[in-house]
Formats: sequence, C-alpha cells, structure tokens
Amino acid sequence: MFIAANWKMNLDKKSIQSFVEYLQSYKFSKNVQLCIFPPTIYIDFLSNLIRNIPISIGGQNCHHQSFGAFTGEVSAISLKEFGCDYVILGHSERRIYNKETNESIKKSAQFAIEYNLSPIICVGENLEQRENGKAIDFIEKQITNCIPDEFKEIIIAYEPIWSIGTGKIPHQDEIREMHKYIKEIILLKSKKKVKVLYGGSVNEQNIQEILSVNNVDGVLVGGASLKIKDLLAIYGSAVKHLEKNLIFKD
Ligand code: PGA
Repeated sequence: MFIAANWKMNLDKKSIQSFVEYLQSYKFSKNVQLCIFPPTIYIDFLSNLIRNIPISIGGQNCHHQSFGAFTGEVSAISLKEFGCDYVILGHSERRIYNKETNESIKKSAQFAIEYNLSPIICVGENLEQRENGKAIDFIEKQITNCIPDEFKEIIIAYEPIWSIGTGKIPHQDEIREMHKYIKEIILLKSKKKVKVLYGGSVNEQNIQEILSVNNVDGVLVGGASLKIKDLLAIYGSAVKHLEKNLIFKD
C-alpha cells in the first residue's frame, strides 16, 4: 500500500520542521509506504530531517532531458542526487498550466527510470469527458501515449481532474472500473503489473471507502497531506484497512 503526499507549492521551512517532529515518534508500518513530495527547493531540507524515519521523498516533476539550457527546470539526476526515490509525472496541474503533453511525460518517465527514480504517472479525465461517457477512452489514450516503452516498475495515479481539490470523489464503481481498466491495458501493452493509486479529494473521512475498492493500491493526497494530523489519520486508516483484510484472508 502506497500513500503519496503531494504538498504542491505549499509549506515553508518552519512548518516542515514541525511536521517532521510529529513523524519522529510515529510508528510506521512496513506494509504502508509513505512518500512526501515537497516543493523542489525543500527536498534537501526535508531529506535531511527524515534521515532516521522510514519514509521516502520524491519530486513533483522532472524535465524530459537529463541536463541543458532549461531555465527553472529540474532533472531526474538532481532529484536522485538529493535523496528522491520517486517522481510525480504528468500531474493535471502541470498538463494544464505548463502544457505538458503525453509525449513529454513519456520522455520524462524514461529519464526517471534511467536514473533509478520510480515514476508515478498521473492520468485523469475532466468533468465533460466523464459526463459524456468518454472517460475510459480518454484514459486509454493517455496511458498508451505516456507510459515508457520499457520499464521494470511504474505507478499510475488515477486522478479525475473534477475531483482534485473539489471535495467530490467518483462513485466506488467508477473507481473500480477505471483502476481495473488501467491495469488491463498496461498488462496487455507492456506485460507488466502496475500499482494504481487513486487521487482527488482524499481525506480522513473517505479513505476507508476508497481503499475498500478493488484494485486501489494506495492514494495520492494533496490538500489533506498538508496537516500532519490529517495525513497520519489517512495513514493510520490504511494500516487498519490492511490489517482487517489480512485477518479476513486468514
Ligand atoms: P487533492 O489533490 O487531494 O487536494 O484533491 C490531489 C492531487 O492533486 O494530487
């Protein structure tokens, strides 16, 4: 189970420091992996603070070249050098505001893999596509065009754009259908099994409902990851959910 905390362009040194103080004494489960994605400028700062805490750190983006004249960009090599294990790619905010395309996302994913970063590739339809019954076709196109040709491991995050920051989440059946479909097309295309995270308005109240959906391997949390108590409540629910399922299987 994977919990990704996407801080976006939020928090400062002081708030990161007090955030980490809570994490110091927290008892993490080895079955639920927490990865924090801070703003790039704070990666090194956070990475030093969490040295003895069993959580990972990741970048919110990386460029589709390994180096060069790309003002303001960050490369997969730099992320790795500063302790990142993961990188979020193709978040809808970057697709919209930075005009990232499936093709550039695919190239970034290839570079990330080359430098031992695991990409978390985001896909998701807008409200119009969902309402017109075009969501599945749209996601299939995104997946086909942005997953790398060769990979050992990638993670997909299904994040319907209309759900991000709105408090609205899809019906359980819609999440189940989409996650199953994403896994099927990748298995067909690349002969690989992938983890699929759900993202969009995940919070302490809806986490159990989301995790109980088949084929949900974790969550990508934005707003609710900015407050340590909310994030740990989500993490704790994920641990409980897994324990319940293990008991059930026994
Ligand atoms: P949200 O953001 O949890 O605030 O909806 C999720 C995301 O954009 O990754």
